[in-house]
Amino acid sequence: MKETNFNPLTLAQRDHRTIWHPDTQMLTEPLPIPMVKGKDALLFAEDGTSYIDGISSWWVNIHGHAHPYIAQKIAAQAQTLEHCIFAGLTHRPAIELAERLLEILPSAQSKIFFSDNGSTAVEVGLKMAIQYWFNQGIHKNKILAFRHGYHGDTFGSMSVSARSVFTMAFEKYLFEVDYIDIPVPDGVGGGICNSPDGCTGEMPDETYYENVKKKINSGEYAAFIFEPLILGAGGMRMYLPAALERLIKICRDNEILIITDEVMTGFGRTGKRFAMEYLQVQPDIICLSKGLTGGTMALGVTSCNAKIYDAFLSTDKLKTFLHGHSFTANPIACTAALASLDLFIESSCMENVTRVIEQQAHFIKQIKNHAAIKNARQTGTVTAFEIITPGEDSYMNNIRYYLSEFFLKHHIVLRPLGNTIYILPPYCISNNELKNIYDVIISLLENVTTLSFGGRE
Ligand SMILES: Cc1ncc(COP(=O)(O)O)c(C=O)c1O
Repeated sequence: MKETNFNPLTLAQRDHRTIWHPDTQMLTEPLPIPMVKGKDALLFAEDGTSYIDGISSWWVNIHGHAHPYIAQKIAAQAQTLEHCIFAGLTHRPAIELAERLLEILPSAQSKIFFSDNGSTAVEVGLKMAIQYWFNQGIHKNKILAFRHGYHGDTFGSMSVSARSVFTMAFEKYLFEVDYIDIPVPDGVGGGICNSPDGCTGEMPDETYYENVKKKINSGEYAAFIFEPLILGAGGMRMYLPAALERLIKICRDNEILIITDEVMTGFGRTGKRFAMEYLQVQPDIICLSKGLTGGTMALGVTSCNAKIYDAFLSTDKLKTFLHGHSFTANPIACTAALASLDLFIESSCMENVTRVIEQQAHFIKQIKNHAAIKNARQTGTVTAFEIITPGEDSYMNNIRYYLSEFFLKHHIVLRPLGNTIYILPPYCISNNELKNIYDVIISLLENVTTLSFGGRE
């Protein structure tokens, strides 16, 4: 094979000439750091510097980077069957993955539909719910969602996400959605779920539920979609399983389908395999991605119960679910997911989850009364808090630029959501690496009043 020609530019310069990065203001943000290798919780840059991945590379990685077991399975599959059309044909990796997911998903799920990522998993879930009613000739045209929710960047998933800076330019093209607050007294969530069975925190009062009941009793709502226990991109807002359970029961009483978006919370993130395991009631539809392949390959899954699936079975072809992507159930991605599941069900994985939860709980205890922060909170392996700044608590708070650069200078990858700092590590992260992150955060907090936040507007 031909050697790559010598190029005098650095990788970062070549990147800047040709690539448009996600969620990045290309005019003002610094050049990206080229990464050449990953191992466990570390990413290694071109210059040899190692960085601790404190956010699991946008919440996808659970077992660590370049995991040799997953890599070896992917390589073997790539040499056997890399891809085939998934309408009319099928393959073993998809079948095995569907069987194994249905075994571990919260009860009553009966079918698996494959797609490409978290946003498409949500699109599929929404389309299943809307067409479920359509196929029966029942007219329901509203969706219920949480006010600060985030479900992806495609049009359907944007529609059910909060109206925010992410959706501002597209508002008139989004379908209408009715919002309710998450069930916590203060809107942010000071709750703590830090042991597999124990969650503490405040429940909303009766008025909250009465208002929801009033809103939804019109019978027009097709589905309620939500991120269970943690609203991720909307600011790591946390709420209690018991509060969600009551909300779901109210929706069920009003014949509203339940779609749970476990794209971020699935596969151990909240301390149980799936966040919905904290609840007695179960959803009609579940959306999964991110940790599904251990963070190695893009894959989305939407599962549903028999009630949903049966509404599409008909001799009338118009009742078919006419949705599909070129790479539906890609065999290499399914193989990566199977390998990740092998690792996920090993006892050492959940032991690591428990260890990370304990370390995180200790850290939250340590900082919760610090004068520079507020709302220290934890759900499972995720901790978050707000830095107190003169600006508002929002994604656009300018401190985020300063903070991201500050952490990178200390060889840590954290990408605060405005003034919300959160830690969401791969489960294989060592206690020393976590301590390193905590020490850097504490040094930041000690100096926070004297720091100028980069002055970037
Ligand atoms: C809860 C939730 N749903 C959906 C998505 C969209 O996933 P993707 O970025 O893979 O499209 C995200 C992404 O962060 C998410 O957190």
